Amino acid sequence: MNLSELTKLYDFSGRTIVITGGAGILGGEMACALVGCRANVVILDRNPERAAAFQPKLECEPGCARVYFADVLDADSLMAACERTLGEFGRIDGLINAAGGNAPSATTAPERAFFDIPRQAMQQVIDLNLMGTILPCQVFGKVMAQQSEGVILNISSMNAFRPLTRVAAYSAAKAAVSNFTAWLAVHMAQNYSPHIRVNALAPGFFQTQQNHFLLYDEHTGELTPRGQAIIDHTPMGRFGRPEDLLGAMLWLLSPASDFVTGVVVPVDGGFSAYSGV
Ligand SMILES: NC(=O)c1ccc[n+]([C@@H]2O[C@H](COP(=O)([O-])OP(=O)(O)OC[C@H]3O[C@@H](n4cnc5c(N)ncnc54)[C@H](O)[C@@H]3O)[C@@H](O)[C@H]2O)c1
Repeated sequence: MNLSELTKLYDFSGRTIVITGGAGILGGEMACALVGCRANVVILDRNPERAAAFQPKLECEPGCARVYFADVLDADSLMAACERTLGEFGRIDGLINAAGGNAPSATTAPERAFFDIPRQAMQQVIDLNLMGTILPCQVFGKVMAQQSEGVILNISSMNAFRPLTRVAAYSAAKAAVSNFTAWLAVHMAQNYSPHIRVNALAPGFFQTQQNHFLLYDEHTGELTPRGQAIIDHTPMGRFGRPEDLLGAMLWLLSPASDFVTGVVVPVDGGFSAYSGV
């Protein structure tokens, strides 16, 4: 393959990629990159107005972007978004499941023992991360099965390899996302088409709204002991930036990874490789 053929692998012209949680920090960064690679990108979010923050960036790029409401825990809203996407673009080539996250109410703290965390708080985090990945895979994966082609990219976490302290429900849910990624990869390839691939990214620690309270002291703005411990355990010595995910994301969505399915790729500055000694 020469340079021009290699570059073409990342030309997403005519390909439609749906991103759940696409109005969020990481999903939004991926949306902008994909529109820059000429894709048709459909951002689905429970709070679509959040996409206004990067709308001007989307408009400067050569691809095409749409922002629709959908709740990943509501199959009807996902099916409506799927119909709308097919009506507009005719096919669905990729799905990125970026809706997810932890909740302070499901996190242990000096004032919140594990034993006292309400079931509802735990359930909410498990539902958002696990069912919020499975339901879009059912709705959009069915279209891929009909097309005999498509790529799914789930978002796991460092917590899936070894759980971090304090976030029991989030860790369990992300471990299940990694497990489900492998399961669905095998299921799709064996039952529908070897041209349907399912992989996941496991981001390390990125400074975002959701984890700010765990990484920084809200009064002093200094790193918390937990934030410092993460930096100390990251050989590259820094938190991730959203753009750090883009290379692995584009690779896993593109034909460059045609023989890769069922894997979880860490993008973590070496966190998961480091034993601590
Ligand atoms: N930020 C990190 O360091 C980090 C690390 C590892 C994994 N992750 C994972 O990456 C993904 C994206 O995280 P982020 O930091 O961009 O979070 P974010 O909060 O910025 O984005 C999440 C988006 O999902 C949307 N959303 C929430 N519930 C929804 C629902 N029910 N239906 C539809 N949309 C919904 C939110 O409105 C938001 O726009 C999550 O799965 C998160 O767990 C993040």
